[in-house]
Amino acid sequence: MVNKMENKEKMENKEKMENKEKMENKEKMKAIVYTEFGPPDVLHLKEVDKPTPKDNEILVRIYATTVGFGDLYARNVNYSNFHMPALLYPPMKVMFGIRKPKKTILGAEFSGIVEDIGTEVTKFSKGDEVFGYVGPKMGCYAEYTCVPEDISVVLKPANLSHMEAAVLPYGGIIASTLVEKMNIQPGQKLLIIGASGGIGSAAVQIAKSLGAEVTGVCGTPRLEFVKSLGADKVIDYTKEDFTQNGETYDIIFDIIHKSSFGRVKKSLKKNGRYILSSFGMRQVLTMLRTKLIGSKKVICSMAFKEDLDSILPLVEAGKFKAVIDKSFPLEQAAEAHRYVEEGNKKGHIVITLDHLAT
Ligand SMILES: NC(=O)c1ccc[n+]([C@@H]2O[C@H](COP(=O)([O-])OP(=O)(O)OC[C@H]3O[C@@H](n4cnc5c(N)ncnc54)[C@H](OP(=O)(O)O)[C@@H]3O)[C@@H](O)[C@H]2O)c1
Repeated sequence: MVNKMENKEKMENKEKMENKEKMENKEKMKAIVYTEFGPPDVLHLKEVDKPTPKDNEILVRIYATTVGFGDLYARNVNYSNFHMPALLYPPMKVMFGIRKPKKTILGAEFSGIVEDIGTEVTKFSKGDEVFGYVGPKMGCYAEYTCVPEDISVVLKPANLSHMEAAVLPYGGIIASTLVEKMNIQPGQKLLIIGASGGIGSAAVQIAKSLGAEVTGVCGTPRLEFVKSLGADKVIDYTKEDFTQNGETYDIIFDIIHKSSFGRVKKSLKKNGRYILSSFGMRQVLTMLRTKLIGSKKVICSMAFKEDLDSILPLVEAGKFKAVIDKSFPLEQAAEAHRYVEEGNKKGHIVITLDHLAT
């Protein structure tokens, strides 16, 4: 009996030693980690375990990632700037963490090189240059991340740098899905509210490529940026109220919910559509009402598709391009977040990894 217990103890100790050795031998990587919600100062550089790809995953050595709307939101999840129906808030909060962050590494977009592949991966090989979007799964503020091969990850076109490729997926995927739903005809007039943001800057370019006449609404510092994307006209919302200038549009696309149907109605042509990508229950009810009554329609639209292939032809043709404002090394991720939050950005903000320079 005593022997049996001694043997069990020995076995347990051996297992513990082996686990400890494994932990000590596990390869490490640099990452920006946050363990509490709050301002940019919650982001800290740390050494964490390097991930290992599962059977269906690729291990990507990240060269560039970004500061997007989702990163700022996930860093400090709160209801006050949640612009979706209230019912969706609890599941979103559970997903990101109730008291403290569930996913401790931010970063939804990446560009990099495949370093390893799982046993079932068929689409990619070691050494492939890829870029992609992991969405709310996050985890790209790190030297490495693992992504399933069947999510939004594609080979990086040769005419794009890693910095350029990293900034395209989020805006590209969401804008292309929403623009597709607009069924734009060449020559139609489209007004985009929030044209300088991640989704808006992509929407301007995609709508132009479809032949729309695009007016972008943004703040004074970003007028030149929106013009550089190809917008035919820009309106500075701090100086001009577009609902008062007598212009009418086939489509008004409000990305950040800064308008209301009551106010924009007279700026819509007959059969015009008012498309919202941020909305609450009230707007959903107005959508249902306008489905039945009147020629002008409200459409509350979500982008569920995560298909990067649809934007590749535009990227390759140079019709959808990255406009990079500034880049920050990984170590300065907090600085990058502050720069965006203080309203400075005029284009995309990139976070670069050391090996980009090598
Ligand atoms: N429907 C969907 O499937 C879906 C998916 C993802 C996100 N979203 C929604 O999209 C929104 C985020 O969009 P995003 O990623 O493009 O955000 P973003 O990158 O933060 O851009 C928002 C832009 O709006 C501009 N802006 C602020 N006030 C404005 C006003 N009064 N008029 C016109 N422009 C104004 C800001 O710049 P300026 O200072 O230049 O104006 C900023 O560039 C969120 O509300 C989110 O809920 C929807």
